[in-house]
Amino acid sequence: MVHAMVKVGAFPNLKEVKDFEFEFQPSINRQQIQDLLTLRFIENQENIVFLGPSGVGKTHLASAIGIAAAKKRTSTYFVKCHDLIQNLKKAHLENRLESRLKHYTKYKLLIIDEIGYLPIEADDAKLFFQLIDRRYEHRSTIFTTNVNFKEWDGIFQEAKLANAILDRILHHATVITIVGDSYRLKDHLASEDA
Ligand SMILES: Nc1ncnc2c1ncn2[C@@H]1O[C@H](COP(=O)(O)OP(=O)(O)OP(=O)(O)O)[C@@H](O)[C@H]1O
Ligand SMILES: [Mg+2]
Repeated sequence: MVHAMVKVGAFPNLKEVKDFEFEFQPSINRQQIQDLLTLRFIENQENIVFLGPSGVGKTHLASAIGIAAAKKRTSTYFVKCHDLIQNLKKAHLENRLESRLKHYTKYKLLIIDEIGYLPIEADDAKLFFQLIDRRYEHRSTIFTTNVNFKEWDGIFQEAKLANAILDRILHHATVITIVGDSYRLKDHLASEDA
């Protein structure tokens, strides 16, 4: 049976660390992931960023850590960056931004998946900044992205805003950079070698 707190977390799947083949992705330090699974980073209000190309396991590991937190009864919620922003935008239009920001700030652990995959309008970037600012040094957030930090200006349109967002995210953060092949393509790559 799925734990009630795991259900609340809205994870895209129930993949856990035991389902992750570390042998396939040698750039990932297994011990570092095990340390994160102690969930001390949540007590310390620290962030995690998974950075790397498609299919290397960013969403898998981010949700695995989230599921571990939810099982320990830590309020956790998983959301795609685009959906989060659409939600904040709608709330803003309906004059209920404050309560939405409070809602998203309340989770002890928020997972924001796919930063930079879809373009973000300048006004929407400001809404995103407000959430990051509220969570900064109070709550932990896990981010996944395929965009190098240097290129975040392009995601959030304005360099100053991108810097302010990045500054807050990275001040207390573990960055896990993954370099390697896509697990999704592994069978295709294997057959090419043959
Ligand atoms: N090392 C691995 N061992 C087992 N399964 C893996 C591994 N890496 C990835 N997967 C699986 O491959 C699929 C793609 O992984 P995932 O969704 O985490 O990629 P991603 O890095 O988030 O990619 P994207 O940037 O395209 O969102 C998932 O089904 C995931 O469970
Ligand atoms: Mg992903």
